[in-house]
Amino acid sequence: MIHFHSPNPDGVTDSDKALLGINAPALVRPYLTLWRDERATPLISLASIAAETKVANVLVKDEGQRLGLGSFKALGGAYAVMTLFKRTLEERLGEEVSVAQLTSPRAREPAAGMTFCCATDGNHGKSVAAGARILGCRSVIFVHEGVTAARAEAIGADEVIRVPGNYDRSVDEAERVAMERDWCLVSDTSWEGYEEIPSLVAQGYTVLAEEALTQIGAAGIAPPTHVFLQAGVGGFASSISLHLSEALGERGIKTVIVEPDRAACLFVSAEAGRLTSFSPVESTIMAMLECYTPSLVAWRILNATASAFLTVTEEEAKIAMRRLAAHRPPIVAGESGAAGLAGYLSVATDPEARSRLGLTEQSRVLLINTEGATDPASYESIVGATADEVRQCSLSQPA
Ligand SMILES: Cc1ncc(COP(=O)(O)O)c(C=O)c1O
Repeated sequence: MIHFHSPNPDGVTDSDKALLGINAPALVRPYLTLWRDERATPLISLASIAAETKVANVLVKDEGQRLGLGSFKALGGAYAVMTLFKRTLEERLGEEVSVAQLTSPRAREPAAGMTFCCATDGNHGKSVAAGARILGCRSVIFVHEGVTAARAEAIGADEVIRVPGNYDRSVDEAERVAMERDWCLVSDTSWEGYEEIPSLVAQGYTVLAEEALTQIGAAGIAPPTHVFLQAGVGGFASSISLHLSEALGERGIKTVIVEPDRAACLFVSAEAGRLTSFSPVESTIMAMLECYTPSLVAWRILNATASAFLTVTEEEAKIAMRRLAAHRPPIVAGESGAAGLAGYLSVATDPEARSRLGLTEQSRVLLINTEGATDPASYESIVGATADEVRQCSLSQPA
């Protein structure tokens, strides 16, 4: 299903632009030096899909290996944790501290006394836990009953708390316990009165958008005309969409939001013209997108930047995963990671949608594979091979 949308740019505030615009990545980059394995993720051209769908190019930014955590989420939660700890440390010491000093001996005792928490489907919690671990702080992560044992284990937190019910319930519970125990809640979704921290999380993601534009420029390719962004609560999509619009200025870019048809909270919000929760019936394999209430800030931004909201089925997501696995070089994309391609393929094969979104032979499409095989068993059952086997194919059969 597709909902065409007239973007209302007036909805974006100056503060949204300052947080996510062209200056944002430079604020985040110093914190990346605290990671051991920081490097740019690859940008890969899907030439055969571009030819088949009659556009100039389709590029995928592959976030599957970001900071060794398996998804772009590594950029957001950990960065927010580090920024918040820096503030706390400066208050404690009564002086400014550098990013390098966050892991110095003087920081150790204040760090040991701080607990960061959040609710997660998996990837955001992994990022918050990693940020806390780098600093020597404690992390407690809340997961809902649908999060698989393997995903909960992979979070690597000091403590993982199971909450009955769905993702939205785990968000409420994390907030309640954080208040009660005076823990620092680093949520990737926002609501009235709680916007600043989720905006920091979203600011972290701008690094990948800037990196993609730099890689595109370095390859001598013109910037994208369309971007398809998968959404859970919308924090990721709003960050990338606003950053790209600000960076590309008058050249402009059309944003299309892609959600599972079983968890389409932004789609129903766009249809209703106001923030609206989705009534869940069944769970989706796109587990990282299984959110039923949009982030307040994300909805405000996407209402201003998105040209369409669309839903994809479980089967479309599986097909997209297999197509990325079959590409040379192969791209290992989890269920949520492949959703952007699933959305693009559904638009590209729909003449009315193509025409309304101005998708032509000159169009340049940007997609983001937001995660690798973060649930290995599920990946293997859908693709018919493990992530390692898929990668091996690229070694044995060069492009
Ligand atoms: C792999 C992946 N893709 C996309 C998203 C969607 O991000 P958001 O919830 O900010 O919309 C998530 C969220 O956890 C994710 O883990």
